[in-house]
Amino acid sequence: MIFAAILAGGIGSRMGNVDKPKQFLYIGNKPIIVHTAEKFIINSRFDGVIVLCPAQWINYTKDLLDKYIPGNDIILIEGGSTRNNTIMNAIDYIENNYGLDEETVLVTHDAVRPFVTHRIIEENIDLASRGLACDTVIPATDTIVESNDGSFISNIPDRAKCYQGQTPQSFRAKRFKTLYDTLSEDEKSILTDAAKVFVVKGDRVELVMGETFNIKVTYPYDLQLAEILLEGEKKC
Ligand code: CTP
Repeated sequence: MIFAAILAGGIGSRMGNVDKPKQFLYIGNKPIIVHTAEKFIINSRFDGVIVLCPAQWINYTKDLLDKYIPGNDIILIEGGSTRNNTIMNAIDYIENNYGLDEETVLVTHDAVRPFVTHRIIEENIDLASRGLACDTVIPATDTIVESNDGSFISNIPDRAKCYQGQTPQSFRAKRFKTLYDTLSEDEKSILTDAAKVFVVKGDRVELVMGETFNIKVTYPYDLQLAEILLEGEKKC
């Protein structure tokens, strides 16, 4: 079976002083989370689309999804305290309700990346269905500078080998659970990225080419950019 997990369990602290987590802010005439969910529910390869949000926002999210996507069969459950815990909640839900075999695929996506494309989702499903973990990336445009202490440069990796991580990140759900369960609590708190869980445990992670416009709404500026991108999307 193939599931999508739309990760909306965060509170969007970098968005500043807004009255709700950023996934509920509007671009165009719909909340960001609705734009994102629409990209997944139109793909008939998914056996289920799971949206995960903070417990106190579940009723609110349900009302939004029902208002903007009437008759939807989205599964709405509570997220976790970290991004990977949110993914684990999705996996636990699948295990408890459908069983978790070796083949079960999970396509995880940030609720705040509403411009993901059909092509990107398809490539994620294809790779993960073949048993490969994959991460959506774009080549780094800026030189990446690494600093261990935040004051001095410790390394400048070759830009030609650097990419910026996006989502989806997709994999066999059982493999993620197996690897995640071997991590210590300290490791879990550092490893906030799902692809990194595979990398540190020595599993290969394939690259899927993303799009520069597959932005993550993080800061207030991104909302302005998202409005412009939405206009562009409507013209396509
Ligand atoms: N996310 C999640 N569960 C968490 C934390 C984050 O599902 N416990 C989701 C967010 O809702 C978001 C995505 O992961 O869709 C990417 O994370 P990020 O942009 O860091 O979101 P927030 O944690 O909400 O933002 P901030 O770091 O500014 O607080």
